[in-house]
Amino acid sequence: MQLRIVVLPGDGVGPEVTEQAVSVLREVANIHGHSFTFAEHPAGGAAIRQTGTPLPASTVDACQQAGAVLLGAIGSPEFDHLPSSLKPEAGLLQLRRELGGFANLRPVKCYESLSAASPLRGEIAEDADILFVRELLGGLYFGEPRGITPNNGNSAAFNTMRYSVSEIERVAQVAFETARQRRGKVTSVDKANVLETSQLWRQTVTRVACDYPDITLDHLYVDAAAMHIITNPRRFDVILTENLFGDILSDEAAVIAGSLGMLASATVGGEVDLYEPVHGSAPDIAGRGIANPLGAIASAAMLLRHTLKLADEAADIEAAIEHVMEAGYRTRDIATAATDRMVTTSEMGELVSEAVASVADMRYAYHAV
Ligand code: IPM
Ligand code: MN
Repeated sequence: MQLRIVVLPGDGVGPEVTEQAVSVLREVANIHGHSFTFAEHPAGGAAIRQTGTPLPASTVDACQQAGAVLLGAIGSPEFDHLPSSLKPEAGLLQLRRELGGFANLRPVKCYESLSAASPLRGEIAEDADILFVRELLGGLYFGEPRGITPNNGNSAAFNTMRYSVSEIERVAQVAFETARQRRGKVTSVDKANVLETSQLWRQTVTRVACDYPDITLDHLYVDAAAMHIITNPRRFDVILTENLFGDILSDEAAVIAGSLGMLASATVGGEVDLYEPVHGSAPDIAGRGIANPLGAIASAAMLLRHTLKLADEAADIEAAIEHVMEAGYRTRDIATAATDRMVTTSEMGELVSEAVASVADMRYAYHAV
């Protein structure tokens, strides 16, 4: 397999974690004889500093011609004073729109060896395994009109939540299709008791469900969903929801995994798939070698599975992560016990690379028997 991967390290901890994800991908390529090339381009605050804009045209071109895009994180307090359209985050939203991926897949699992890192009691979090399918190109993030109307000390600000039937249908189809590969259940989350967008959402999802008679569908209001996610996470398989609800609920669900640093994401459905850890740029810990690279590394595994259909290689990375967790290695965010073996960002990356090699060896030996 050959693939050109564009890497957008971005801001804060982004460069540190993507560096480790790239090393793991290089290791996989070595082991299996694939040829991956990596080209770095500026995005977000890093791009504002270099070029004055959060998403230079050269970055967009490179991404559009890539086989896949791997992004670190975007956002920096240095640009807090800028209007939204000039902030680093505007670059990320523009990138998502240019690439066209409308379904953002965010898996959340409780690793047994990490259950102590979760504030949830073991019997609640254990075996939880949720896939968020977050709509990524609509809702309040992109709705027009939006703006601030100055008015003599009593300014007003407004955003528009808007969804069309076709935008809801296409993301719902992704949720039902992925539920077929899992435990066959979709929970659609909305606020249909108040919002018209949610009423259309619920009607449309219910109609799309008729094409998937093998899948069970239920609906929850977002406030109730927020509670069930931490009181009874095992009731969920696939959670389908709109952009802002998905943003909020997926961070909340990180408590199941023990840390936001563990979570990966894949954005699919567009011209070029985009892979990014769910965590942000974490400027407070950037550059200190303590960030958790596992979310970025797990995003690289999703890249292998979704873009290249390399299921074995993806599973090897995931098994390697589990193996390193079981051996007790921890970055600061997931450390809980005095017996934990504390490691830096790059040590964690190296451990996963080594484990990928031995997991692949084991699988080879198994097939050879
Ligand atoms: C995420 C992030 C982004 C979002 C920000 C950085 C714009 O929080 O990917 O979840 O809100 O989508
Ligand atoms: Mn978020």
